Amino acid sequence: MSTSSSPPTVVVVGSTMIDLTAYASRIPRSGETLVGERFQMGFGGKGANQAVMARLLGADVVMVNCLGDDAYGDMTLDNFATFGIDTTHVHRVPGASGVAPIWVEPDGSNRIIIIPGANHDLTADQAARSVRRTPDAAVVVGQLEIPQEVTAAAFAAAREAGAITILNPAPAALLSNDILELSDWLIPNEVEFEMLTGVPPDSDDALTGFASETATRLVVTLGEEGAALVSPELDRVIRIRSPRVDPVDTTGAGDAFVGAFMVGLASGLDERDAVRLGNACAADSVTRPGTQSSFPPPDRNAQFLAEIQGSLSNA
Ligand code: RIB
Repeated sequence: MSTSSSPPTVVVVGSTMIDLTAYASRIPRSGETLVGERFQMGFGGKGANQAVMARLLGADVVMVNCLGDDAYGDMTLDNFATFGIDTTHVHRVPGASGVAPIWVEPDGSNRIIIIPGANHDLTADQAARSVRRTPDAAVVVGQLEIPQEVTAAAFAAAREAGAITILNPAPAALLSNDILELSDWLIPNEVEFEMLTGVPPDSDDALTGFASETATRLVVTLGEEGAALVSPELDRVIRIRSPRVDPVDTTGAGDAFVGAFMVGLASGLDERDAVRLGNACAADSVTRPGTQSSFPPPDRNAQFLAEIQGSLSNA
């Protein structure tokens, strides 16, 4: 396995949110008021999280997004600047930025509601233009927290430029033929897989059936079980386990996976090693509270990469 020496460029066409996280002993029942244990405000949004994870792995990251003209929008831009993420293609519109109330229980599991706000104001033209203006992009990634037609326009521009396209279909929704035809990879989690297919990702037939029906390469993230990989080059499903950890907050683990996986692919790792890198970053992230604040720092990521590069692919 070899990786290229210069950092890859990745484009994230996706959402930003301000995460408003309540940590509580349990989720309240309907009509019940519960006293929580802790509150944390942080930076989130699946797109922004994947951008930050990719940047922490050393990629040059271009974010394409729409923010409101509120204080949350200002704070989000400052946050991107802290990480050195290119915000040339982040637009501002009148109104509210996206927010995400989140509830986390003691086992680290989360429930999330997103209110997209300005995320839904990014246009297909803006998205496609941003990708065209980044001709060195190796990968373009999207999620479903902005309109599908906007992501499809970005992917069409990515295809013209020969970049890999990755769709993280989250939150789960019916996928248009347009977006499926333009996606090289689909990366749902197990809940999203079941919502998309009607069956859990337990059997190899369910996984290969979905990959063949969508004509995409497929990775399904499986929480503490790691991830399952299906691609046309592999004649079987490969399940790759995650390192064992004690989770305190799983919010954003899937985004850590997607951000790391795309940098792995863009850096020349084979897909199994890119999954291993995704698993390592996601598992590490769940040991800390918060979303972007839980992601592993650059020195830890360098260690994960070195471990993966130093071991034989033996799945
Ligand atoms: O995947 C986790 C993310 O989902 C959170 O950061 C929240 O903002 C929602 O977008």
